Amino acid sequence: MDINGKISQISTLADLDALKSELFGKKGYFAEEFAKMKTIPPAEKKDFAANLNKQKGEASALLDSKRMVLESEALKAEIEAENIDVSLFSTTGEGSLHPVNLAMEAIVDYFYGMNFELKTGPLVEDDFHNFEALNLPKHHPAREMQDTFYFKDETLLRTHTSPVQIRTMVKEKPPLKIIAPGAVFRRDYDLTHTPMFHQVEGLAVDGENKISFANLKFILEDFLTYFFGDVDVRFRPSFFPFTEPSSEVDISCVFCKGKGCRVCSHTGWLEVLGCGIVDPNVFKAVGYENVSGYAFGLGVERFAMLKYRISDLRSLFEGDLDLLEQFR
Ligand code: DAH
Repeated sequence: MDINGKISQISTLADLDALKSELFGKKGYFAEEFAKMKTIPPAEKKDFAANLNKQKGEASALLDSKRMVLESEALKAEIEAENIDVSLFSTTGEGSLHPVNLAMEAIVDYFYGMNFELKTGPLVEDDFHNFEALNLPKHHPAREMQDTFYFKDETLLRTHTSPVQIRTMVKEKPPLKIIAPGAVFRRDYDLTHTPMFHQVEGLAVDGENKISFANLKFILEDFLTYFFGDVDVRFRPSFFPFTEPSSEVDISCVFCKGKGCRVCSHTGWLEVLGCGIVDPNVFKAVGYENVSGYAFGLGVERFAMLKYRISDLRSLFEGDLDLLEQFR
């Protein structure tokens, strides 16, 4: 039998397996050849067996190397068939920005246009920047609302974007106007809270008595009507350790236009951000003297939900295509 010739003609793994059993199977070529030993004269038996064993070894080695060639060709074909050209444009549909990014961009756009400088800070913060310098000393009860994730070395995932205020003031001299967007983290999870969400922080600082609550009111009213359209804006006294006086800001409900509905708990108002006049203790912590300033902070998910009428906060984090495809 021309074993070499047969092997060289094989082009598939299935043919290779078939030839293998044709040669090495129980009733295969070599079994039959060895069976002939019985009829061979004793003097020739040794040579006959040696010759057969040599043939068998060669055939087996040839089959093995043929198998390697065929397997690597099959793998190559499979890889080529599965090859994805990531530079190709999708034929199934365009992508889109996530509603949280859209809202964040719109917010940052406004303040950028008002000459606020864009700043960012680290997500892993230390106690000084996240709490202490913001007039939130250890054991202050206001820390309770911002429980978060701590690392062993007493750093933590920042609970708000306010530490960017501190980082900026420590480095730069007044006057300054900054906007700081980014992710923040709290130990919260329910219908209206997720452990990670986004905020945008604002801070303006200038000389003594140069910045007043009137400046803060103007910019936030202008911003909120830019972002939400035709809404009423109201300031309610509140408390934040880093501002004094502090205020919470409401807009008239975008769902019922202020008439009262389930979303606004029949008050006609929706709370959208916190703000105030920078507390003197904050300026003291960063070594600023004879200055005045305002600050504010807002939650981007809430802004996105109200602007785009999204009712469930969690749907923003689930990669829900029914929702996301509406933003193409
Ligand atoms: N950091 C506050 C929070 O996460 C939000 C905030 C309130 C920021 C008032 C401010 C501010 O800058 O003045 O709840």
